[in-house]
Amino acid sequence: MQPLRVGVCGLGTVAQGVLEVLARNADLIERRAGRRIVVTRVASRRARTEVDLRGATFSLDVADIPGHPDVDVVVELIGGDGLAVELISSALECGKPVVTANKAAIARHGDRLRETAQRQGVALNFEAAVAGGIPIIASLTQGLAANRIDWLAGIINGTSNFILTGMSDGGADFASALAEAQRLGYAEADPTFDVEGIDAAHKLAILCALAFDTGFRFDAVYTEGISRITPEDIEYARRLGYRIKHLGIARRTVAGVEARVHPTLVPDTHLVANVNGVMNAVLVHGDATGSTLFYGAGAGGLPTASAVVADLVEIARATRCAAPPPAYPAPLEAPAMLPIEAATSAHYLRIPSLDRPGVFARVATLLSERDISIESALQRAQAIHAESQNAWVPIVIVTQPVAERVIQEAVAAVQALPDVVGEVVRIRVEDLADA
Ligand code: HSE
Repeated sequence: MQPLRVGVCGLGTVAQGVLEVLARNADLIERRAGRRIVVTRVASRRARTEVDLRGATFSLDVADIPGHPDVDVVVELIGGDGLAVELISSALECGKPVVTANKAAIARHGDRLRETAQRQGVALNFEAAVAGGIPIIASLTQGLAANRIDWLAGIINGTSNFILTGMSDGGADFASALAEAQRLGYAEADPTFDVEGIDAAHKLAILCALAFDTGFRFDAVYTEGISRITPEDIEYARRLGYRIKHLGIARRTVAGVEARVHPTLVPDTHLVANVNGVMNAVLVHGDATGSTLFYGAGAGGLPTASAVVADLVEIARATRCAAPPPAYPAPLEAPAMLPIEAATSAHYLRIPSLDRPGVFARVATLLSERDISIESALQRAQAIHAESQNAWVPIVIVTQPVAERVIQEAVAAVQALPDVVGEVVRIRVEDLADA
């Protein structure tokens, strides 16, 4: 059997991990793939003379790779949705399979790229695009292929999880926890994509396409990040029996598919609430399996390289037998993606109020007039020290599930009370239970 010849675009941490894993596990990968997998060419806009290319030829021109005669498969590890998308597209147009870790490219251009791949009869694999080393794409497209997926929820941004864990464990505020993440290399100098939820929304759009046949609809994912979470909210949530996690949540309903990324209170007894640091976890509820939970490293050179190489192994196997049908065919009829206004969630409310009699009753009346039930509440006496010294006190309430439109209107009414002296904080609550 001829070796599978791989051209790699990019020479960052993940590309270096791919070179290392292919070299380190060459024999076992060959046995599993049925043929050797060899990196013949690497191209990067920046030379890195310190990296051992293990025999591959280097070029500074990434555009060399897709059409090069020594390349059977293109691995795109540049990232972003500009040049990288052109490279993927051009490789597919050359009739070459592509492996990419690029969530932005797939979430934003996945429908067009999938169409090209299917027209050309080649694979477009992106296991590494979601949750790094966790094989969640293969799990959805293969292991869970017998199921109708009802919902899924995941911690799919390690940077946000690291920051929230730091705020929760050490009482740090957002800015200090972010600075620590940057110091340790877990957050970029410009952390916007991670902390404002965009990275997680890319990943959720991909999961939705595979789980619910929605097509790749990044534009339809409601996105909120963690930059407004305070240590006070983390502490009140803890007292009420919750942890605050940044979740991507997608759910099939009669009307269509809800897809949202936002900070979420999760019961502290739930496994997902105890996924800490930079780790990722994805919970998938299938109609036959019930809940299944996938946990592991969502980023990093070797874990992400593991996913890239797994995609290469799949391609090496497929090209020595008849090409299988695509793992994620274009949907015959994509369900509607629902706006956030169509969602229903329980809510945590923190209401900064004047410290005088009757305020809690007035808030409770506004909620009950809108049929919003209170699940639990913290009284003034339990207010944390920093706030209890003020002339105002927080009223903290967790509601039962309520439609988004109703809670929006209720919060506006509460905000307008003369007793309310600061912005009402609202964070969604999900029990992530089986039912
Ligand atoms: N910045 C991402 C994260 C890395 O924090 O999860 C991989 O997508």
